[in-house]
Amino acid sequence: MRDSISQSYLIATNHQALLDIMSTNTYDFEKPWRARNFLARILGFGLILSEGPAHRKQRKALTPAFNIKNIRAMYTLMWEKTIQLVEEMEKELAENPMEGTNPEDKVGKLEMGVWGSRVTLDIIGPVAMGRDFRSLQNKDNKVAESFLRILEPTTEKMAFLAMNFILPQWIAQRVPWRLNKVVADETGFLRNLCNDIVKEKRTSLAESKASAKDLEADVLGTMMLGGDFSDEELVDQMLTFLAAGHETTAAALTWACYLLTLHPTYQTRLRDEIRAQIPSASTAITHQDLESLPLLNGVCEEVLRLYPTVPATIRESIRDTMIAGKRVPKGTRILLIPYAINRSPLFWGETGEDFLPERWIDTDPKTGKSVPNKNGGASTNFAQITFLHGQRACIGKDFARAELRCAVAGVVGRFAFEMQDPKQEIHVAGAVTTKPVEGMNLAMRRVEGW
Ligand code: HEM
Repeated sequence: MRDSISQSYLIATNHQALLDIMSTNTYDFEKPWRARNFLARILGFGLILSEGPAHRKQRKALTPAFNIKNIRAMYTLMWEKTIQLVEEMEKELAENPMEGTNPEDKVGKLEMGVWGSRVTLDIIGPVAMGRDFRSLQNKDNKVAESFLRILEPTTEKMAFLAMNFILPQWIAQRVPWRLNKVVADETGFLRNLCNDIVKEKRTSLAESKASAKDLEADVLGTMMLGGDFSDEELVDQMLTFLAAGHETTAAALTWACYLLTLHPTYQTRLRDEIRAQIPSASTAITHQDLESLPLLNGVCEEVLRLYPTVPATIRESIRDTMIAGKRVPKGTRILLIPYAINRSPLFWGETGEDFLPERWIDTDPKTGKSVPNKNGGASTNFAQITFLHGQRACIGKDFARAELRCAVAGVVGRFAFEMQDPKQEIHVAGAVTTKPVEGMNLAMRRVEGW
């Protein structure tokens, strides 16, 4: 494939090519410098944008915070925030009745994307840096607004993004385009906030107010204990975790709701499954409660497969290398496209585009019970690259899955919903992560008894 300025690209489409790029020869590929420079304005120069030995060092320091034991311990926080989410949503629904419905049915309306962003922000804050942003209760939250201003998908933003990938940053940042100021103002605010949090933590460490155990409670503390990072580097990592760990899962929750409006029978079956396992929203849960639910797992995996919130990413070979037995010269650009691979007929046959949660459910031969499976019946893990694989896979993938399970269980457990306008066409777009361009305007009612 060739683009308008004559740069050629390879698109990885088969198992061997994907394996070589993500695993076998992974350090032969980096994100192109120009793309990194632009993304660093939003994400900071943290784990996502570091390369080579710097990446290895950071990844090693951060991996323990995301091991499965720690993720499982986070279900308590995630469920607590989920319950706050459904309670706050209910208040908004009561204030915004849906026109043309019987008032006794108590159908209200809301835009789901905003709520997804609030709940994920309130989860990533404590996990990344020990700070509860309380955006669920405080609707005018400046942090949530900043991310919204940077990431809300508009045609103008798509054009701005394209310009930033084409031009070097020293030119792109001088173009008199109002979005340059928006990005500078909002990321400036977020950077200052992260800076203050890093300083505060350093002070309590110096004054021995925080014990090692306190520090280990969040990602920032874990990195500080390691002692190998400057304050500036820590600020960059915090920006990365705030941005990467919040809008991505928020968008996934939004797409989950969308798919469940298109498939209402699954919505009902899922609600039954959730209520059978968790008697009421106020019941405390453990990871087993949610991880064992076959339909919940199947629905979440189908959402992540069909609407990977990072739809595409890019690499460049930094030395001559091999992909699927072919020589690839230094400087070759490569596209990895989760949106296409996850639906590819090569891996998924004719049903690649269909929402089929059952593909993630097996029958246990001994007990005859339905149990979740890990690959959706595909012949390779590389059929689903929502989080990529290998050394550069998303470090937050288990965290995101846990968070999505909680939020979907809470929202579907409590509410029945459909599109406010069932005829509305929804378009996928976004700056870096995908969202519905039109927003996700839902009509919802509480289903009593939970
Ligand atoms: C549905 C939710 C999410 C999706 C679809 C997603 C997707 C991805 C993808 C595709 C990458 C690789 C990007 C590339 O190398 O080109 C990535 C990397 C990363 N993600 Fe996620 N992510 C999600 C949630 C999260 C969460 C919740 C966190 C943090 C708690 C997180 C933190 C990161 C970090 C730090 C990296 C860089 C890893 C590295 O290069 O070593 N992500 N993510």
